[in-house]
Amino acid sequence: MAEKMADKTAAAESRRIVLGITGSVAAYKAAELARLWVKAGFTVDVVMTDAACRFIAPLTLQALTRRPVWTQMWQNEQPVGDGMQHIALSRGAQAMVIAPATADFLARAAQGRADDVLSALCLARECPMFVAPAMNRQMWTHPATQRNIARLRADGVTVLGPDAGELACGEIGEGRMLSPEAIAAAVASESGEEKLLAGHRVLLTAGPTFEAIDPVRGLTNRSSGKMGFALAQAAAQAGAEVTLVAGPVALPTPTGVTRIDVVSAQEMADAVFAQAKRADIFIGVAAVADYAPAAPVTQKLKKETNETLTLTLRPTVDILAELAQRAPCVFRVGFAAESQDIVALGEAKRQRKQLPLLIANRAQDAINADDNEVVLLDDDGAHPLPRMEKTLLARELIKEVAKRLKTKPSKANG
Ligand code: CTP
Repeated sequence: MAEKMADKTAAAESRRIVLGITGSVAAYKAAELARLWVKAGFTVDVVMTDAACRFIAPLTLQALTRRPVWTQMWQNEQPVGDGMQHIALSRGAQAMVIAPATADFLARAAQGRADDVLSALCLARECPMFVAPAMNRQMWTHPATQRNIARLRADGVTVLGPDAGELACGEIGEGRMLSPEAIAAAVASESGEEKLLAGHRVLLTAGPTFEAIDPVRGLTNRSSGKMGFALAQAAAQAGAEVTLVAGPVALPTPTGVTRIDVVSAQEMADAVFAQAKRADIFIGVAAVADYAPAAPVTQKLKKETNETLTLTLRPTVDILAELAQRAPCVFRVGFAAESQDIVALGEAKRQRKQLPLLIANRAQDAINADDNEVVLLDDDGAHPLPRMEKTLLARELIKEVAKRLKTKPSKANG
């Protein structure tokens, strides 16, 4: 009995995160981050600097985490352990995450200061530490900040982001804190929480294809590649060896992923078929053109008359369906973007392509968006997931794939 209690306490402890908040407009996003972790079953202890308390009230974090919020070095109302909370709070925690981390905080942490409760905890901790910087683009690229970041990395701190985009100051550039979902996903994988696909080799396609009409023109679509890249990242974070065959998109290659850039559907098919021998999971996320110009020309087409121009198209190879013949042992996952009847049309597509799992969504929701709402279709029926950001959704989908690898073989897969 006593042993069981001890096990339970140890389990609860390993699911505890210390969230440090410093003084930035992005502090409001830390509330959402705390909420995500609480929802996922973590105990969250929040530590705030004086400046952070000017941006968001400790009471908000206290209400979300249902725990005391630490703002002072010598906060005696509810002491932790022997009252040495600047040490004790980090003991047994899975991770310490500073989000947002200001330029000033990074400088202090790089120096190893210990003159407030958060900096002291950073020094005294025994767990991995993550920082999610948030600041003006000029402050971020300043050599002093970059020196501090290099110092922290050398000291074993993981730096998450920042993102590029519109900043709180109104300027545009690098310095925006990563989204709470992206921070939660990175912390979970980096701290080794879930290596669900360890030992697996995942091959993915992502983005659009471009089918040439002439040397400068072509047929393509508005797929951003975000979902495929997020899945590649999540698969790598889940411990898989990942190869991503990407159509023309300007997205950075996810950490730990091997990327093969292609342009046309035929190039994508050739790359996938060449790699398939090494894979045991294939996820077709790319919006592959179903048709390509039958006779692309090598010289630029000239407008010669005001007559209409007729383009003859030929069907492209269906990579996902063809793989069933070429590599029958590979667990194949398809996507279907439908504008209506997503379950019925998606299920018909799943049967036609003989897939154990198909992820269906509304085309108008998915294309180019940062979030998505999908329905999973398998032999047991339709399983809807709530709308969520693509990085978070990618993690959920990887869990769903991993779950199905372990269960019964699919009827659809023969
Ligand atoms: N796919 C593929 N090769 C193709 C076409 C599609 O691998 N030439 C894959 C996609 O990556 C995706 C799934 O098949 O996983 C989508 O199937 P598809 O029938 O092309 O869906 P839609 O493009 O939505 O087709 P339709 O226009 O018939 O609805």
